[in-house]
Amino acid sequence: APAELLDAFGRRIDYLRLSVTDRCDLRCRYCLPKGFDDYAEPADWLGFDEIERVVAAFAALGVRRFRLTGGEPLMRRNLTALVARLSVIDGVRDLSLSTNATQLARHAEALKQAGLSRLNVSLDSLDKGCMQQVTGRDSLDTVMAGLMAGKAAGLAPIKLNMVLMRGINDGEVGRMAAFCFEHGFILRLIEAMPMGASGRNTSYLPVADVLPALIERFGLVPSARTLGGGPARYWQTPDGRGQLGTITPISQHFCATCNRVRLSVDGTLYLCLGQEDKVELRPLMRAGCDDATLRAAIVDAIRRKPEKHHFVETPAKILRFMSQTGG
Ligand code: GTP
Ligand code: 5AD
Ligand code: SF4
Repeated sequence: APAELLDAFGRRIDYLRLSVTDRCDLRCRYCLPKGFDDYAEPADWLGFDEIERVVAAFAALGVRRFRLTGGEPLMRRNLTALVARLSVIDGVRDLSLSTNATQLARHAEALKQAGLSRLNVSLDSLDKGCMQQVTGRDSLDTVMAGLMAGKAAGLAPIKLNMVLMRGINDGEVGRMAAFCFEHGFILRLIEAMPMGASGRNTSYLPVADVLPALIERFGLVPSARTLGGGPARYWQTPDGRGQLGTITPISQHFCATCNRVRLSVDGTLYLCLGQEDKVELRPLMRAGCDDATLRAAIVDAIRRKPEKHHFVETPAKILRFMSQTGG
C-alpha cells in the first residue's frame, strides 16, 4: 500500500477524527446529541481493539494526526485506556481530544500520562445564564473546573471553541478573547453549520460580523502560523503571545485544502462533514479481513471523498447529527 492517502482532487489526507460515542451530557442547541440514559454500549460500537486496528491502518497509510471526538468522548468508558493504546502506535504524532470539559477535572492528569498531546474545549460563553441557554444545563462551573484542570495538567496548547450564535453569545466575543489571552488559551470563533435537527436553527452569525471589533480592540494582525491540523486561520496580538483563530465553513469554506475524514463510533467512515458519502468498515473487520484488505478499503474510500460541502446551497440537507461525527 502507498504511504500516503490522496483523494481524487489531489488532497492529501493526513488527519482522522474518531467519534468514540454519540452520547453527551450536554444538549448544545447546534449539536443536539443523544443523551445517556441507556448505559449499555450497543453491539455495533467499535471496541477498543477495533479502534486501535483502524488507527494503525490509517497510520500505516501516512495519517499522522488523530482526534478523539463524540458526542462527548469522556462519556466513553475508560477513554484514558484507549488514549494510552493509541498514543504508542507507530506513526501517531498528534493525538488530541475535543471535549466539553465537564468530566475533565477527573481525567486531565491521567490523560496527560496516557500520552494525549493537546485539548480543544467547547466553550461558548463565560456567562452562567447564557451557558444554561446554549447547553441546556447549568454547566459553566463544571466546564471551567475541567478547563483549568486541563491547563494544570499541561495539556497545552488548549484551544477554546466558541460557536457564534446571533443574539445569544455575540456580545461576549470580546470578553472571551480577553479571558483566553490572559490564560494562554487560543480562542476560535466558529460559524455554525446546519446539521441534523439544528439544520434551520443555528442562529448563524458570520465571523466577519465580530472580527473587526476584535482586531481593533486587541490590535490583532494576521498570523502566518498554523496551529494544529484543522481549518482555522489565525490572528495574533502585536507581541505575538495571544492567538485567535477563525473557522468559516459558511462564509469562506476551506474544502480545497481539506485533509481529513471521520470515523463514527459504529465504524462508518464519513468522507466529508457536509455530505452523506460514507463507507462502512465494521462489517469488513468483523468478517475477519486481514490488514492489507482493511488498508485497501480505506485507500478506495478516500478516492470517493467529495469535493466540498453544500451547506450554503442546500441548508438542512444533512440530517446526520453533529454528534455522530463530532464536528
Ligand atoms: P486542530 O488540529 O486543533 O486545528 O483541530 P480542529 O479545529 O480540526 O478540530 P475541532 O474539533 O476543534 O473543530 C473545530 C471546528 O472546526 C468544529 O466546529 C468543527 O466542526 C470544524 N471542522 C473541523 N474540521 C472540519 C472540516 O473538515 N469541515 C468543516 N466544514 N468543519 C470542520
Ligand atoms: N457547527 C459548527 N461547529 C459545531 N460544533 C458542534 N456542532 C457544531 C455546528 N453545528 C463544534 C463545537 C465543538 C467542535 C468539535 O464542533 O464547538 O467544540
Ligand atoms: Fe473537507 Fe467536507 Fe469539511 Fe469541506 S466540508 S473541509 S470537504 S470535510
